Amino acid sequence: MSGQKGRLEGRLIAVGITGSIAAYKAPELVRLLQGEGADVVALLSPSATRFVAPLTLEALTRHPAEVDVLSLLPDGRIGHIVVAHSADAIVVAPATAHWLAAMATGLAGDVVTAACLATAAPVVVAPAMDGEMYAHPATVTNVGRLRVDFRYRIVEPEEGPLASGESGVGRLANLPSIVDAVVASVRDRPVRAPGPEARPPYIPAPREADLTDRHVVVTAGGTSEPIDPIRSITNRSTGRMGVALAQAALDRGARVTLIAASVSVPLPDREGAQVVRVESTASMRAALLDTLTGEDGRPGFDALIMAAAVSDFRPSRPAETKIPGGTSMTLDLEPTPDLLAEVSGIARRLGPDRAQPAAGVKARPLIVGFAAETGSLYRAPAKITSKGLDLLVANDVSEAGSGFGTDTNRVTIFSAEGGAEDWPLLTKREVADRILDRLAPMLDARDAAPHTGAVTQETRQ
Ligand code: CTP
Repeated sequence: MSGQKGRLEGRLIAVGITGSIAAYKAPELVRLLQGEGADVVALLSPSATRFVAPLTLEALTRHPAEVDVLSLLPDGRIGHIVVAHSADAIVVAPATAHWLAAMATGLAGDVVTAACLATAAPVVVAPAMDGEMYAHPATVTNVGRLRVDFRYRIVEPEEGPLASGESGVGRLANLPSIVDAVVASVRDRPVRAPGPEARPPYIPAPREADLTDRHVVVTAGGTSEPIDPIRSITNRSTGRMGVALAQAALDRGARVTLIAASVSVPLPDREGAQVVRVESTASMRAALLDTLTGEDGRPGFDALIMAAAVSDFRPSRPAETKIPGGTSMTLDLEPTPDLLAEVSGIARRLGPDRAQPAAGVKARPLIVGFAAETGSLYRAPAKITSKGLDLLVANDVSEAGSGFGTDTNRVTIFSAEGGAEDWPLLTKREVADRILDRLAPMLDARDAAPHTGAVTQETRQ
């Protein structure tokens, strides 16, 4: 569904940087690996930090840069061990004579050697140093040991001008050939840690306050339908996705109404957040209809993100008193109303008259739906039309790491214009950020074009 995939799609590649002047090329190597679809993490020896700042690597990779064997990650894990266990390959570029010697003898005094010693992943080494250092028998022996005994892939340095002003063999190999060696090293191997939990922590890229003055309504959690005063029918939703969306929207300056059914994660308790607790589909419907129109009769919100797992069925006649146990029984179920279809229908009618938009009248709200599917997403796009959506976030909840009760999700996002984008397995917070990355400019486009009344085709309704 998405465009051409890179050769390192879904992989985590660790770039080990040691203290050669060629360390200045490491950020560019990170970029090239990312261009192939890799998630990248950086490891720096102490002397490498004199040539390139860890902050540069952190900002590029969105992971903490490992620099100290004796420090822990914020979540308490040992950073270089997390890298060793989750990376698909470690590429040491540039590798100094000192590092080659340390590695050849197993001296784990820096995070790069420590991670290489602790990993089962392939290691690619691109030496860079003065020509005479590279030709010295000590270096030749060390490189030979890495190649033969450790089966590391060596990307030989090139001949050319060196930092000393002289010329010789010692220049870091050209970066595309290092990338090719990394690609070759992982070929035919499964991705070692596909999900973000086993990988180094992700540092979310700061987002602009691009939802300031917007009112975003988010529904979260599973509704529950009474059978009798004690029992109910519900589903496995934990509300994580909806709460992540609410938090992400608040972080971008939005006013958020979170309509929360059954959730098992903390709800936002901060300025700008209004939480409405509901239980059944009927009470969620009432809460939605309440927010739909503002006091002035205009649309009451800018966007609705319907992440809740709404029950599709409810007992037709819930008992008023407890149903005694001990006998078998048949439960009669009736379908619940489709809240999303109903709300989007009303929201469209609330939008301004296309021919004569009144000044200051908010255009119609944008509507984002979710589709929880099992096995395949083929049914998802039809829900855009049947429910009148601008965006649809679909996932296969039967897939490992996706759906209910996990911190991660792999989704495909469909737009009303017909596009579809597959996103990799991401934390729910990152999925939330990316959904809002799509939504915020759509709201801006909606407001910039009041005469059209909408950014999507009204005709498809
Ligand atoms: N939804 C809703 N009201 C319902 C059922 C679902 O508003 N009674 C919303 C959900 O919150 C979600 C979207 O509709 O945003 C799609 O839900 P999903 O369960 O995938 O689809 P359904 O419409 O229930 O269709 P089906 O069960 O046939 O897959």
